[in-house]
Amino acid sequence: MTKLSVNINKIATLRNARGGNKPDLLLMAKDIQSFGAQGITIHPRPDQRHITYNDALNLPEFVNTEFNIEGNPIGKFIDLICQIKPDQVTLVPDSIDAITSNAGWDTIKNKSFLKEVVCEFKNHGIRTSIFVDTDLNFIEAAKETGADRIELYTESYAVNFEKGNKKEINKYVDASNFANNIGLGVNAGHDLNLENINFFVKEIPFLDEVSIGHAIICESLYLGLENVINMYLQKINNAIKQ
Ligand code: PXP
Repeated sequence: MTKLSVNINKIATLRNARGGNKPDLLLMAKDIQSFGAQGITIHPRPDQRHITYNDALNLPEFVNTEFNIEGNPIGKFIDLICQIKPDQVTLVPDSIDAITSNAGWDTIKNKSFLKEVVCEFKNHGIRTSIFVDTDLNFIEAAKETGADRIELYTESYAVNFEKGNKKEINKYVDASNFANNIGLGVNAGHDLNLENINFFVKEIPFLDEVSIGHAIICESLYLGLENVINMYLQKINNAIKQ
């Protein structure tokens, strides 16, 4: 069974936009799991524009499923992970000012650096996953870093799916088979949504986990709007003036 880990970055973005504590990130993390999600993912960035380092430190008490923290393993990030010891850390090569992750690792060029980082996390008993494209050479080098899993970057699948080009899935099928053959677990994420998730999960032979953030929040807003607007109309129309 493929697990769903919900990335809650956007909930923090919404909270930070207004100041205060609404929506309550910790309560929402708890509720998301009670609604059935099998994991919570966060991606703290150095500018703390959504998930803050404080959020990261507070969350373990509220996560009783799998806690996955993603990010670029700069010094501050490594310290945070070693302190929290989440179930899984996903290493992402995003630059400080990136709007969102936009590439997988070149695991050949960065092999010795990744090896060191993976080793440090493994010494703390944390599962490691490396964010990569479907290039089999990069997947092979990811294995050589000592990582437990890869996370396949699914943007090109999502973009092609939207254009009606379902053949893009073949690269992901090959990557999943190859990773499994060399003993790597397979996660996937980025731009997955209600339209493209079923086909992806159906076609990919080995898929431990998907992590999904942006679309879940957009879809929740849309699917909740009719209900909430009607609730407001009822409250307004039923109000009896003094
Ligand atoms: N995986 C990684 C490595 C990411 O950086 C992100 C975005 O933070 C996701 C998955 C989730 O992507 P999305 O928000 O498009 O679902």
